[in-house]
Amino acid sequence: MRIIETKDYTDMSRKAANLIAAQIVTKPNCVLGLATGSSPIGTYDRLVEMYEQGDLDFSGISTVNLDEYKGLDRENDQSYYYFMHEHLFDRVNVVAERTNVPNGMEPDADKECKRYEELIASLGGVDLQLLGLGHNGHIGFNEPAEIFDKATHCVDLTESTIEANKRFFASVDDVPRQAYTMGIGTIMRAKKVLLVVSGEDKADIVAKAFFGDVTPQVPASILQMHPDVTVVADAAALSKIP
Ligand code: F6R
Repeated sequence: MRIIETKDYTDMSRKAANLIAAQIVTKPNCVLGLATGSSPIGTYDRLVEMYEQGDLDFSGISTVNLDEYKGLDRENDQSYYYFMHEHLFDRVNVVAERTNVPNGMEPDADKECKRYEELIASLGGVDLQLLGLGHNGHIGFNEPAEIFDKATHCVDLTESTIEANKRFFASVDDVPRQAYTMGIGTIMRAKKVLLVVSGEDKADIVAKAFFGDVTPQVPASILQMHPDVTVVADAAALSKIP
């Protein structure tokens, strides 16, 4: 595991974008695994700038997103589909048909999870998977558990997640109760992993996940076993590492 320390969020975003750009330049038809959340927004902004300056061409790449709420349609501004279009897909020359997000409107979970795993396999696997880190060590929607969930699966959101998300919805009843997520096995099969993390509020979990025991109670800790992980973290997020 490589840990790259950056000054702050902006510096983190620029360095992470450089690593993604290097991936696209060296393999123009690569498969990028993408994440939502606040951590990668600056990275996406920087990639858009590189595209606008003529330095980066997205026309050959394919993308697969980590996760999506079950029951939210694409037009819902809280869906991850919407997020990806707003922050990246609609701002660069990626081919829309080659962008993939789990289909939150597919009610049959087994069918959708199988489809998504097969889709990733049919693309030849993920070349570079971008991740954020949850405060409890989650990656994707893989929450602390007794075992590592291997494949893409449907998760029941915890009460605390539903509570935390309700500010984005008209009422708590509108908050999705379930989500589709790549599994830990799906993530671990990516050839490279790039995790971005910023802020003092993540310092405890960064220390635990990357310097503590490997345990499904801290899902991101499994990344210690991956052969090619780069963590790009700002000084605040690294302030508690041993
Ligand atoms: C996003 C995702 C989540 C986030 C994590 C961190 O697709 O799967 O695991 O990466 O919750 O979120 P932020 O970046 O908002 O702190």
